[in-house]
Amino acid sequence: MSDQYTVEKPVPVMPTYNRFPVTLTKGLGSYVWDEQEKKYLDFTSGIATCNLGHRPPEVQKAISEQLDKLWHCSNLYHIPSQTALAEKLVAHSCGDQVFFCNSGAEANEAAIKIARRYAQKVKNNDKFEIVTFKQSFHGRTLATLSATGQEKIQEGFSPAMPGFRYLPYNDQAALEDLIAPETCAVMLELVQGEGGVIPADDAWVKELVRQCQEQEVLIIIDEIQTGMGRTGTLFAYEQYDFEPDIITIAKGLGSGFPIGAMIAKEDVAKAFAPGTHGSTFGGNPLATTAGLRTLELLMTPDALTKWNETSAYLWGKLEELAERSDKIKQVRGKGFLIGLEVDCPAIELVTEAREEHQLLILVAGPNVVRILPPLTTTKEEVDQALAILTNIF
Ligand SMILES: Cc1ncc(COP(=O)(O)O)c(C=O)c1O
Repeated sequence: MSDQYTVEKPVPVMPTYNRFPVTLTKGLGSYVWDEQEKKYLDFTSGIATCNLGHRPPEVQKAISEQLDKLWHCSNLYHIPSQTALAEKLVAHSCGDQVFFCNSGAEANEAAIKIARRYAQKVKNNDKFEIVTFKQSFHGRTLATLSATGQEKIQEGFSPAMPGFRYLPYNDQAALEDLIAPETCAVMLELVQGEGGVIPADDAWVKELVRQCQEQEVLIIIDEIQTGMGRTGTLFAYEQYDFEPDIITIAKGLGSGFPIGAMIAKEDVAKAFAPGTHGSTFGGNPLATTAGLRTLELLMTPDALTKWNETSAYLWGKLEELAERSDKIKQVRGKGFLIGLEVDCPAIELVTEAREEHQLLILVAGPNVVRILPPLTTTKEEVDQALAILTNIF
């Protein structure tokens, strides 16, 4: 077995990623092909991004048609697909207004900015602090790495941006310190993705929400990995009994076309007036066309119900496998965001799956294998993956 991160040929791209020794050149549905035409079953979905599989034909058609009309015009003009996508996001969420950008980190930047500005310009107080959680992941820009509760992500970039405080996740007792006099918002993932696929406990979320609502502190839910159907509902917050003030999304919104968005309730959205925030590319005609068609497909009646049947089937089989295999300590997550806690380095299993069985899966921390199939994956593809996983475990 080769080293999982072999660099085969040096390229003039900054080495910010550990890349697997594979070059992918084509994708369709649940499969990708490398430059030697070797076919892989892709249960990573480009890290929770290609939720409808690779190159969903309806999204491809919509982008192709838009390519013949207008690619970019800036936000100095109205953009029909941007308006339509905003209307659809608002119709399917508890939010009222949308800001478009190009990535998850940018969506969280926008959330951090609007939370502070809401405190300072709408509520007229001097609150600024945003509470986040240990092992969270909110992005790689300076503000979002400062929001991220992981020292390794912040290392070498000090000083981190001030104004963040980190509490342990799922820790009921720690909620005693949730809100300080300067706290304007609390920001969290409802399943910590990069941090090890850890779902938030219902009772913990309930108490967190109770305190925030009582003390008028904004709740920002980072749905960048959990959103767009990944956990079984369009947004993960729908599975908890509350409405966030701010939701951030990216990844699955554009089926692989780069796009991010920050959705806010009306009162909060007032904090952004012309000139307070912006992005040249944010919400451009091509990106919002991809997003609009993707969202229409995700919201097709019965689509999520059908995909949830496939994920329930996968969960059942993985739980059976966990009972038989000493290697798997726990199966956790929600919907098609699944973590297997294992008793060995997860990367070894990921490497074996790829090199010996042409199955692409991921890690989420040293001892967690992360499985992110497209929502559209079929039962036959699930069986194919299960046969491989059974072999490995
Ligand atoms: C929960 C969460 N937030 C934010 C981000 C950052 O998104 P992006 O890489 O698009 O900036 C990610 C990316 O993995 C994520 O999983």
